[in-house]
Amino acid sequence: MNYKNAIITGASSGIGRAAAQALAAQGMNLFLCARSLEGLQRTADLCSKYENRYIPYSVDLNNSEGIASVLPAALSTLGSIDTLINCAGIYPSDGIDGITDPLWDKVMNLNLKNTFFLSRDVLAYMKPRKKGYIIYINSTVALGAKPSVSTYSISKYGLAGAAAAMYEEGKPYQIRVSSIYPGVTSTDSLHQNGMPCSPEQCMLPEDIASCISFLLQTPERMIIRDLVPWASAYDKI
Ligand SMILES: NC(=O)c1ccc[n+]([C@@H]2O[C@H](COP(=O)([O-])OP(=O)(O)OC[C@H]3O[C@@H](n4cnc5c(N)ncnc54)[C@H](OP(=O)(O)O)[C@@H]3O)[C@@H](O)[C@H]2O)c1
Repeated sequence: MNYKNAIITGASSGIGRAAAQALAAQGMNLFLCARSLEGLQRTADLCSKYENRYIPYSVDLNNSEGIASVLPAALSTLGSIDTLINCAGIYPSDGIDGITDPLWDKVMNLNLKNTFFLSRDVLAYMKPRKKGYIIYINSTVALGAKPSVSTYSISKYGLAGAAAAMYEEGKPYQIRVSSIYPGVTSTDSLHQNGMPCSPEQCMLPEDIASCISFLLQTPERMIIRDLVPWASAYDKI
């Protein structure tokens, strides 16, 4: 395994939790970020059968102080960082008519602005070390907007742009940047938002986690910029 110490945002549930379990199985130490300390502790407990280090870090990634605190806190506990998995995100239901200023700010701050600023900090740290991997969990809504999740779609289109810029800037420093664009994946949040299909038609969080593991295990001579896992029984490919 080329990489040893990862920050995972959105690690208290869903895809982020499954990613933590997959990376723990690969022998990685993990700095686990989200707001719910209870959720993060549960993730750390699930990882604990593998003897690595798991640090739960409760933080609101919707505020700039929270974002600025993540890298220093991760470095002070793990010593170094070579991987960032950007998984935190929200996907409220709305239509364009229903987008208000507060909703716009909340979704854009978390899904786009603050995800970008954390990546910016981590990229600046990785550059002189000439090693690192930054992965974005985007969505198929950035490949074709969906009418009932307009703010979400706009934020994820923006995130694709941010990832493209990071990809280009990381390349001369051997820092790899990839985006995963999952289709429907059965998580509690998707259930709460009114899952658009039956659970049997969805992918599972561990399917997306296996994509993350795969990317991290590819040889450094290659880079997969975009990976698009669709739910074969539901998504319109
Ligand atoms: N499920 C799908 O079908 C699907 C498909 C494509 C892409 N995705 C993407 O996958 C990612 C994870 O989604 P999921 O389905 O696994 O949902 P989830 O279980 O709700 O995960 C979202 C994570 O983001 C964290 N989060 C939310 N607001 C936060 C805040 N203000 N500060 C810090 N952390 C915050 C949540 O933790 P706390 O609430 O504890 O803070 C949670 O750990 C998202 O980026 C989503 O866009 C999901």
